[in-house]
Amino acid sequence: MVEILECRTLVKLLVLCHLIFSVAVSKVEGRIRHYRWDVKYEYKSPDCFKKLVITINGGTPGPKILAQQGDTVVVELKNSLLTENVAIHWHGIRQIGTPWSDGTEGVTQCPILPGDTFIYKFVVDRAGSYLYHAHYGIQREAGLYGSIIVSVPNGVSEPFVYDYDRSIILNDWYHKSTFEQATGLSSIPFVWVGEPQSLLINGRGRFNCSLLATPSLEARVCNMTNPDCSPYILTVIPGKTYRLRIGSLTSLSALSFQIEGHKMTVVEADGHYVEPFEIQNLYIYSGETYSVLIKANQNPSRNYWMTTNVVSRKPATLTGLAILNYYPNYPKKSPPTLPTAGPLWNETAQRLAQSLSLKAHKNFTHTPPLTSDKVIVLLNTQNKIDGVYRWSLNNVSFSLPHTPYLVALKENVNLNRIFDQNPPPENYDFENYDIYGVAENVNATSSNGIYRLRFNSTVDVILQNANTMTVNNSETHPWHLHGHDFWVMGYGTGKFDIKKDVGKYNLVNPIMKNTVPVHPYGWTALRFRADNPGVWAFHCHIESHFYMGMGVVFEEGVEKVGKLPSSVMGCGETKGFHSP
Ligand code: C2O
Ligand code: CU
Repeated sequence: MVEILECRTLVKLLVLCHLIFSVAVSKVEGRIRHYRWDVKYEYKSPDCFKKLVITINGGTPGPKILAQQGDTVVVELKNSLLTENVAIHWHGIRQIGTPWSDGTEGVTQCPILPGDTFIYKFVVDRAGSYLYHAHYGIQREAGLYGSIIVSVPNGVSEPFVYDYDRSIILNDWYHKSTFEQATGLSSIPFVWVGEPQSLLINGRGRFNCSLLATPSLEARVCNMTNPDCSPYILTVIPGKTYRLRIGSLTSLSALSFQIEGHKMTVVEADGHYVEPFEIQNLYIYSGETYSVLIKANQNPSRNYWMTTNVVSRKPATLTGLAILNYYPNYPKKSPPTLPTAGPLWNETAQRLAQSLSLKAHKNFTHTPPLTSDKVIVLLNTQNKIDGVYRWSLNNVSFSLPHTPYLVALKENVNLNRIFDQNPPPENYDFENYDIYGVAENVNATSSNGIYRLRFNSTVDVILQNANTMTVNNSETHPWHLHGHDFWVMGYGTGKFDIKKDVGKYNLVNPIMKNTVPVHPYGWTALRFRADNPGVWAFHCHIESHFYMGMGVVFEEGVEKVGKLPSSVMGCGETKGFHSP
């Protein structure tokens, strides 16, 4: 207002006036998007099998968060789980200036106790498609997840056009509770979670109840006519273009997604615009999001199948189904065809090719720093520690401390009582490691030590895959970094060659992402700037793999972090502790 009044008196300085006025306008802050969520257990039948699932305000997936770039999202989260803690992570939101709102139990906050209400507050600083999910134990797979859609600021346009915007979350689904699964994963003898019972599209799947022995307790809770498990229906108007925002939050499975008779054009990945390319199958790994455009240009007198199926592991799960309904056909009318089979599960080359074809859009390229200050090679191996199967990086399997790192480091409490002060190894001798041999890893240890990065330095991470403890087997691991987007510098097969492969990095138009796959027997290289003060998890997004130690933690500029809210404290060494 003051500027505007002054302008009136300075009529001659029209140009300057206009300038000041526009600065004043652009300073207008985003809106507050306020959500009140109640998290609790309820009986639901997402795939026709009734079990206890975690709902938000009665639903799984939970409510969609809709915001515009620059808005502040406030989620008032009430934990009504009665006998279980909770924490929610905002996957893909960098939490610039609010690292305590990242929602990572053990890293950025204490868990939220039953009956407590915790307030998450953060700015969504970049348009795009993101996710949220539980980040406590393996609670995500109990159904606590959803999507975050951030639209572009008014007057800003995207490098593609469409008529309607829809979102799809893919998931895999287990009938056993998270408690049974977590117990199995930490017991001797070890009990693996196995393949999922079904695949869900927007929280709906179908388990073939007739597979259960009748009469049995299980058969009694399986009902294929339950409306919870009727397929998701996407209704389209012939001739229109749809933007589908597709995210995956599977516990285990890598997926392929396809729409019968329709090509998809990939335009966005993890909040970044992609140089568009057309595909028939979208390969999507847990923690990734993509926007694809589809045109409703097929014969409008019928409906079409949308399908998702497991890739990379030998599938033991039925294809997940949804219906693409051409208006005005009856929405539930089954397509006249059999659901299309997906690609072969073990076509690793095709998946690698799709990873390689993701490039930054030519008008939205952020060029990476040309060199890095530090290179961390993480050799991904499976091994056993004290008789229990674990995953290790450079022979160290990660475990979470009881006191969150962020609180410990920021408040300078007695650090060596909280976590191992020895950093994990950076220069493991992976060059002499046989990535094709069955892993032995006799000297693997477990630790909660972290990497402390120099603030503003540029860090390269090379994820090197290897054989598991099973002959001729190497898995796909989707790695997710909190608090950052990284440049995807390259992918390769076999062992990373530090002399030759660095020279092949894409320094021109690498896509930026927050989650990236490391393919079987392959490597993936990424680069990021350690410029976001806080403590950030970097881990395999397979729920059981992270639980089994497949992760590391980075600290950067923790001394620059603002005053922590006391709501993130209260556990471990922070008991009764309050920021001065
Ligand atoms: Cu979406 Cu630490 O994860
Ligand atoms: Cu993994």
